[in-house]
Amino acid sequence: MRAELIDGKKIGQAMRAELRPEIAALRQRGVTPGLAVVLVGEDPASQVYVRMKGRACDDLGMRSETIRLPADAAEAELLAVIERLNADPEIHGILVQLPLPKQINETRVLHRIVPGKDVDGFHPENVGKVAIGDPTGFRPATPYGVQQLLVRSGVPTSGAHAVIVGRSNIVGRPMASLLLHKGKGADATVTVCHSRTRDIGAVTRQADVLIVAMGKPEFVRGDMVKPGAVVIDVGVNRVDDATTEKGYRLVGDVAFEEAAAVAARITPVPGGVGPMTITMLLYNTVQAARQWAD
Ligand code: GUN
Repeated sequence: MRAELIDGKKIGQAMRAELRPEIAALRQRGVTPGLAVVLVGEDPASQVYVRMKGRACDDLGMRSETIRLPADAAEAELLAVIERLNADPEIHGILVQLPLPKQINETRVLHRIVPGKDVDGFHPENVGKVAIGDPTGFRPATPYGVQQLLVRSGVPTSGAHAVIVGRSNIVGRPMASLLLHKGKGADATVTVCHSRTRDIGAVTRQADVLIVAMGKPEFVRGDMVKPGAVVIDVGVNRVDDATTEKGYRLVGDVAFEEAAAVAARITPVPGGVGPMTITMLLYNTVQAARQWAD
């Protein structure tokens, strides 16, 4: 039997609708949640993401500001923008779109954002809070979105073996933290695999929940998936395809058709994890505004 799809677009939309009353309540208190997105350069994928973030804010009655800097901007220029946003009382969340151009030190930039506005959850203070389960910390949007997909699809995680492929600071590591917590969408036994893992298929085949975030197109094949597993594909890769109008198509880190023939449930690419990350960024911005107002 073919796997059932986990529809991130639908779940994301439902979750965005649930934010409306809280945004309305904050606005009544004179606080309109505000998100600033900083984009350096003209990376086409980043431009699409940044536009989508701005639109999602507008749609929910949040404030949004996009700051664009040229690809050759100096690090000092970007740090000055962050300082201004740190001090702006109308901005509750700040996101610097990654990747940054080579002349800019990413760590220095991310650490300059005040932790209370760091809705990406990349500042060490938030990384630490998330690791110890402090709810005032900001959970990075992608793993937070994956966890919500599992919760809202009724995937049992308690006692389950969750295998994460990829150890990035943006997805793999915080994903492991979230699944190790006590509570809903957590209490899992967690294994993290990476590029140096020996016989990775032997590990992924043990997964009740397999979460793949390594950035390699269609790396996980059908024979790496345990029959009946739940597969969450975080990858978004452009691969050349002359038969499409744009000359490329998007594929995940999982060979979808092969995995769908084995798994019980699977996320598509696009339309799986992607729409959830923007939704959770909105949740984090509302959380930032609430914590600022209280
Ligand atoms: N680029 C790819 N993913 C992300 C993310 O989660 N946050 C930011 N700021 N940039 C990204």
